Amino acid sequence: MPGVDDAAPSLLDRLPESVGILGAGRAGTALARAIARIPRLHPGTPAPRVVMAATRTPAAVRRHLLIHAPGAEAVTVEQVAADTRLTVVAVPREELDEVDPALLAGPRTLAVVDMTNTWGDEPVPDWLAAGSGGPGTALIARRWAAAGLGAPVVRAFSEISHHELDVVGRTEEPRRALGVGADAPGPGRDAVAALVAALGLEPVEYAPLARAAALEPGGPVFGRETTADELARALS
Ligand SMILES: NC(=O)c1ccc[n+]([C@@H]2O[C@H](COP(=O)([O-])OP(=O)(O)OC[C@H]3O[C@@H](n4cnc5c(N)ncnc54)[C@H](OP(=O)(O)O)[C@@H]3O)[C@@H](O)[C@H]2O)c1
Repeated sequence: MPGVDDAAPSLLDRLPESVGILGAGRAGTALARAIARIPRLHPGTPAPRVVMAATRTPAAVRRHLLIHAPGAEAVTVEQVAADTRLTVVAVPREELDEVDPALLAGPRTLAVVDMTNTWGDEPVPDWLAAGSGGPGTALIARRWAAAGLGAPVVRAFSEISHHELDVVGRTEEPRRALGVGADAPGPGRDAVAALVAALGLEPVEYAPLARAAALEPGGPVFGRETTADELARALS
């Protein structure tokens, strides 16, 4: 498997110039902070613009971001995907019925990234409850597609904690591997892989989303630092 050093120029070329993040809690702000560090890892590469929305007003999110993700812009839920290349969903799964799939993709959106997990005995919506037929992201993707979402759903960043996201990125090998899954390869999954690589992690692309069970809490690689080969084996 090629290291990111070999692939870095082409992957960095595909780095999306903007990311909208729905959810400004622990996961969303850790991702925003990691994105803000890209120019330090790759001098000369600008960080993608990051806009973020939560349930609270943009003014309240703005105050929160000043502390937790300086540099990210606060917007409304309606604006989070209006002009961005990726939309990352970083809200608790128990809130997913409050998320309007029509607002997750705008005219320029390459992919909607599912960063969510079912945590402990979190009371998730019935359609997502255990036993309803597949790993979480596959069900979420099916639900959103049925509701008219045209952009592909990519699972990424769900198996790494916000604590680790704050410290894990590096340019030297060995780099921690992260899964980047979709139901099919394509420019959306490529853009997410480029973002993962720009953060100093090793993207392991896979399809379809049904293979993501290993990444769920309780799965063999959730929260574990793995090499790309180990992660690829767990996903196969
Ligand atoms: N924490 C981690 O280390 C981590 C790592 C990877 C993945 N995850 C996953 O990421 C998801 C979020 O976890 P978290 O720890 O970040 O939770 P959190 O700290 O509780 O933050 C949740 C955020 O979601 C926002 N939110 C809730 N419902 C919303 C809606 N309908 N529209 C817009 N925003 C909404 C909240 O808004 P307000 O701020 O206005 O309340 C808050 O900003 C979970 O599925 C979790 O399993 C977490």
